[in-house]
Amino acid sequence: MNTQSISIDLPGRNYDIAIGTALFDNVLSYAQLPSAAHVLIVTNSTVAPLYAKRLEQALSVRYAAVHTVVLPDGEEYKTWQTLNLIFDALLKNGCDRKTLVFALGGGVVGDMAGFAAASYMRGVPFVQVPTTLLAQVDSSVGGKTGINHPLGKNMIGAFYQPLKVVCDLDTLKTLPARELSAGLAEVIKYGPIADLDFLQWIEENIDALLAREPLALAHAVRRSCEIKAWVVAQDERESGLRAILNFGHTFGHAIEAGLGYGEWLHGEAVGCGMVLAMALSHRLGLVDAAYVQRVTALIEKAGLPVLAPCLSTTDNPARYLELMQIDKKAQDGEIRFVVIDGAARAYVRAAPVALVREVIDACCLRL
Ligand code: NAD
Ligand code: GLY
Repeated sequence: MNTQSISIDLPGRNYDIAIGTALFDNVLSYAQLPSAAHVLIVTNSTVAPLYAKRLEQALSVRYAAVHTVVLPDGEEYKTWQTLNLIFDALLKNGCDRKTLVFALGGGVVGDMAGFAAASYMRGVPFVQVPTTLLAQVDSSVGGKTGINHPLGKNMIGAFYQPLKVVCDLDTLKTLPARELSAGLAEVIKYGPIADLDFLQWIEENIDALLAREPLALAHAVRRSCEIKAWVVAQDERESGLRAILNFGHTFGHAIEAGLGYGEWLHGEAVGCGMVLAMALSHRLGLVDAAYVQRVTALIEKAGLPVLAPCLSTTDNPARYLELMQIDKKAQDGEIRFVVIDGAARAYVRAAPVALVREVIDACCLRL
């Protein structure tokens, strides 16, 4: 398969996303990167035995000192304590400010390694080597980095762009099926917010994607990254347009926090969150019921939950509303949602509380 390259156009900080096979352990993938005395590979206890040695070997061809730090695996470890393990490794190995940090893993590793790179010695360069579908189509691209706080997801962080993103589709062969489905949630997201042709393509190719057919995966990753690159180039720091990438995330983050991080996967919460966001869009008169049904069916076919969990036995909508107050899109205490119309346009807006309560009641599992 030919390697494809997508450029993220940001003034003075352009970078490329390489998409293909046999990339992550090929030293040529890193040929354009600056020289450095040290590199630090940040990975986790699941990904390290699969891929760390091969990346270490490839980087050893160019770099004198290749260090690796292995973090515990899981969203529940996306914390200050885990972040400190990265700083410990940088300091103990005498890493200077030219050190290149490599994030080898999914979105959790990528977000933490990126945040560590943003803050170590006030910023060292970093490279994303995403190994989950979700990270390849979303989290490794665009420079959002950070950690969770017990009171809210991704609440502590920085915008910090990588020097390069290397999406090696071969790494997806070892991904558990549940994680593949979670990644498909973020792929599906790009259809309703930006591209109806892509939505139709996903519908036509969902079986091929679930079967991990390389050409289908390559197209899904490429088109997703193109859309994300287009959005990020216009609004890197989310002063407006970029918020559309959070379609499904306001409800989704409430589900993740309400159940406890790690109970549902981020992509599962986003998939289900999109169902609620579409139900809200419908109640606001933006989309018809048939369209909501169509996209919900696709989310379900991708292996994702479409019924939201009950988060409280007393007043479930109130619990959702409480959790959603902490969302970063909230302004002056008002929760704002990404809603869509039927023409692949997305908007960020507040909604009457009574309507939101109705949506939650209609879309949640009853206890
Ligand atoms: P993850 O990083 O937890 O990875 C999922 C699981 O797959 C983990 O157990 C991981 O160890 C394992 N894994 C990774 N690669 C593997 C491989 N090739 N083979 C086998 N197992 C593998 O989860 P994720 O879905 O990749 O990312 C979710 C995180 O990304 C969340 O924390 C979310 O907030 C964040 N996120 C960030 C952005 C952003 O713009 N920065 C966007 C979306 C999501
Ligand atoms: N995943 C949302 C964003 O990058 O803005």
